[in-house]
Amino acid sequence: MSTPILQVRDLKVEYTTSAGAAQAVAGVSFDLAPGEFLAIVGESGCGKSTMLFSIAQLLTYPAETVGGSVLFDGEDLTTLSPEDLRQRRWRDISVVMQSAMNALNPTLSIGAQLADACRAHTDWDDKKIAARSAEVLSMVSIDVTHLKSFPFQLSGGMRQRAMIAMALLLEPKLIIMDEPTSALDVVAQRSLMRQVENLRRELGFAVLFVTHDMSVVSHFSDRLAVMYAGEFVELGATREVFDRPRHPYSVGLMDAFPSIVGEARELTGIAGNPPSLIDPPAGCLFAPRCQHATDECREFRPELVTTDGHAVSCHLVNPRRRS
Ligand SMILES: Nc1ncnc2c1ncn2[C@@H]1O[C@H](COP(=O)(O)OP(=O)(O)OP(=O)(O)O)[C@@H](O)[C@H]1O
Ligand SMILES: [Mg+2]
Repeated sequence: MSTPILQVRDLKVEYTTSAGAAQAVAGVSFDLAPGEFLAIVGESGCGKSTMLFSIAQLLTYPAETVGGSVLFDGEDLTTLSPEDLRQRRWRDISVVMQSAMNALNPTLSIGAQLADACRAHTDWDDKKIAARSAEVLSMVSIDVTHLKSFPFQLSGGMRQRAMIAMALLLEPKLIIMDEPTSALDVVAQRSLMRQVENLRRELGFAVLFVTHDMSVVSHFSDRLAVMYAGEFVELGATREVFDRPRHPYSVGLMDAFPSIVGEARELTGIAGNPPSLIDPPAGCLFAPRCQHATDECREFRPELVTTDGHAVSCHLVNPRRRS
């Protein structure tokens, strides 16, 4: 494997709450290769957005990154100054967050916002800026006349697409996206994802992508991470995780989605609720909901063990060695 563009190591994030510290990201580690598309799935509240914000160094109080490192192109983002981070944002790493449709500046036209980003990071003249702005808007199927429009004049879906255009503007090496197409209908979603995919092949940027849409995962991601209660419980090639999920939570999650290739199955869901993040149980965090849990599972926290490139954190898959 080539040198990773992103190396996340033992990343930990806590929220300060009146009841104590809630560990929303509990020691996540993974690598992302240049040009790779990693999808992250997991039920609501498992920490996906918090983790992406932490990686992008965009967390604000009451959330705080309390441990770990985020190496981007060999440089630890957690140690950079706000100014150094600003320089890298949009140019090296761009971020399209869950609330992307509200992330544009309401007081500036779309064209002015694209031009500001260009001026902050390049020495392009006005002609080049106008040409590039028109180019990225057309990539996301927005008519160039909207360069003059203000965000309130666009629909939610168009605002999301404008944010994606902004993310593509300076051809970064990494694009972080948190449900960037949630305001679009299925057809528009699919067509935008295809455009992003074509651009990724052409330009070679890596993508970190959170979604609830398993068909997007199956069509576009190289690898898939399954997140539960702030941890990655499984990480492997997308096809592998789809066809042979190993962690009982992944099995439940895959069963909960209608089959993409075969006939639609009934949605089953997974009974029970995730554990408290303030006072988590000692053993496996999924044990209270797991049909197969043993005393060992309730007592000892499993580690993510990688076998043939497929990582799983489950005692049933990786039996503990007894001393
Ligand atoms: N301001 C806050 N104070 C305390 N806890 C918080 C705060 N914001 C989020 N959390 C907790 O952090 C955990 C992770 O939240 P996060 O938004 O990252 O989840 P998510 O996986 O992105 O969910 P979704 O799929 O709904 O977007 C949740 O359990 C949530 O309750
Ligand atoms: Mg989220």
